Amino acid sequence: MVARVARALVAAVLAIALILLGRMTPAVADAAADEVHYTFTGGTSVALDWRGTAQDVRYGLTTDYGQTATGTAPQWTPISSAGPFWQAQISGLTAATTYHYSIGGGPDYTFHTPPAAGQSFRFDAIGDIGDTTHFSHLADTFSAIAADQPSFVIMDGDLTYANAANATQTVVDQHFNDVMAWSTSAAYMPAWGNHEWESPAVDDLRNYKGRLLMPNAQASPGSPETSCCGDDWGWSTRVASGSSRIRSRTPRRPGATGRRRPAPSWPTRRTIPRSATSSRSATGPRTPPDITPETARSRAFSTGLARPTASTC
Ligand SMILES: [Fe+2]
Repeated sequence: MVARVARALVAAVLAIALILLGRMTPAVADAAADEVHYTFTGGTSVALDWRGTAQDVRYGLTTDYGQTATGTAPQWTPISSAGPFWQAQISGLTAATTYHYSIGGGPDYTFHTPPAAGQSFRFDAIGDIGDTTHFSHLADTFSAIAADQPSFVIMDGDLTYANAANATQTVVDQHFNDVMAWSTSAAYMPAWGNHEWESPAVDDLRNYKGRLLMPNAQASPGSPETSCCGDDWGWSTRVASGSSRIRSRTPRRPGATGRRRPAPSWPTRRTIPRSATSSRSATGPRTPPDITPETARSRAFSTGLARPTASTC
């Protein structure tokens, strides 16, 4: 009888200990979230985006976090992979402040709200980007941007070239993982180029609108039916002064050697027929994306911040 009671007591103690241990164990990452980045959506708000099964993000002024936001499916569902893709719109933040965050108990990152008016800040600008599987020096460019520790990075169109010949949708996911060199800590502020929308049979704006929420988003008349409408252009009109710097580097094509040319050679490829970009190969060897001619019209969905009147690739 005594032995039976003793065994029951031991079992009860072990059960209680296991319960307590479970409560004390730090949260384990649900799964590795990737494609992590954020945009400014206002002076005291951001939108975090990521891919993975983890849906919750903890955030706060320190690594103790203290607050939790739940990601929801974005308005437009990216088509580059099965996802799942999540977007957490966080508001009520303090202006010009850095926050720590962790998605699903994963690594600690930091985001920050936009710099305040009159506050010094740094930013980088880059366009005609692609991914590291097609552009051998893109990783170097992203490393340089990361070292710059900018507040935000302007991506002025043609983000992934997923619509180019011999490219597949995998380059979209690759791009959003490549930018994690800086996009977990610097806001990714985009404008759409023609390569994001002109070939709806192979790529369209769902991949981009579904990942990058703009502040003051607006719809453009004539926006493509797929992914229409909203988030076509936007951004804040706030102007801050300070030690900003624009970085504009064009990634080199694979196989390029020797000294970097002062200007990209891509415009010479404007002789490539536009129809050449309509053929795709899922199994053949990868080649650099073909660059097609563009017109001012092709930038109709660029940001209103700096709308170009002409483009060269
Ligand atoms: Fe381009």
